[in-house]
Amino acid sequence: MKIGFYSIQGGTGKTTIATNMAYHLSKIVRTIYVDCDLYGTTAPMLFGFENNVNTLNAYLNGDIPLEDMIQQYDTLSLILCDATPEAFNTNSNPEKVVELINLMEKEFDVVIYDLPPNITEGNLLFVGSERLNNIIMVSNDSIPGIANTLKTADLLDELDIGIIGTVVNMDMGNVQFEEVVDKLLAILPYDKKVEKQYIDNVPIIDIKNSKFRKELIKLSDELAGAYIEEGIATERALNIAKDLRGAIIGEEPLEDKSDEDIDFDMDDFDIEEFNPKRL
Ligand SMILES: Nc1ncnc2c1ncn2[C@@H]1O[C@H](COP(=O)(O)OP(=O)(O)OP(=O)(O)O)[C@@H](O)[C@H]1O
Ligand SMILES: [Mg+2]
Repeated sequence: MKIGFYSIQGGTGKTTIATNMAYHLSKIVRTIYVDCDLYGTTAPMLFGFENNVNTLNAYLNGDIPLEDMIQQYDTLSLILCDATPEAFNTNSNPEKVVELINLMEKEFDVVIYDLPPNITEGNLLFVGSERLNNIIMVSNDSIPGIANTLKTADLLDELDIGIIGTVVNMDMGNVQFEEVVDKLLAILPYDKKVEKQYIDNVPIIDIKNSKFRKELIKLSDELAGAYIEEGIATERALNIAKDLRGAIIGEEPLEDKSDEDIDFDMDDFDIEEFNPKRL
């Protein structure tokens, strides 16, 4: 299962929500957070990884292998970008990104992509557009917030990218979003304590008396129920099907049963005993 966080507007809270939701979900299923903000990341600072050199930027520049790039914070796996001005020397390489996305989706139950707001070719949203198909738009509680959310929705529609819905963040009761946006997933309150994650490097979702935490946990659990379980089940079924196919094609050819008698007589079939639910 993969979820991307996106808005054409900067600073709406995509990184705050994506990192904390990923961290929360990582306690339940194998989860990786993928920071896609190659040039303007803030995510490393939230986890105390600002000195990390094994970044997505370094991987794209060919300086490190893919496996070196994955960091660990508690139960959460992380791919982080370069938080220094060196980031501007990155060569974005779409083939490497596709390789990365394929691997992540095989190895983890949940992959959370945190996308930067820009609409240039360097944005992984556009590189892997047919893959990043479950987008949550993050909006702020303001009139420009509404305008930009509607523009974001139009852009994603144009790109044929699926939208799960909108999360309104930093709510202060300014705008009635219910009346304007489709699929309103959650309204997360403005909470001064959120900022403290940069200082303490403790995910806000672990800070007990935060009102932001309460709403974000509710949203994360709802999404896990509605999308992730279904996604994991589908993924497992696909893997079983692939294994079976591999076994059939790869090693032992199927026995040819075409000449054998089929041991079934319609007269023996008792409709009363046939219960499709048991299949
Ligand atoms: N609910 C909230 N209450 C108070 N402050 C918040 C809340 N959500 C986010 N913030 C603060 O708002 C700022 C922007 O948040 P964040 O970096 O998550 O946004 P972003 O959408 O990822 O930004 P960018 O577009 O630059 O990637 C940060 O300082 C963050 O701590
Ligand atoms: Mg961000």
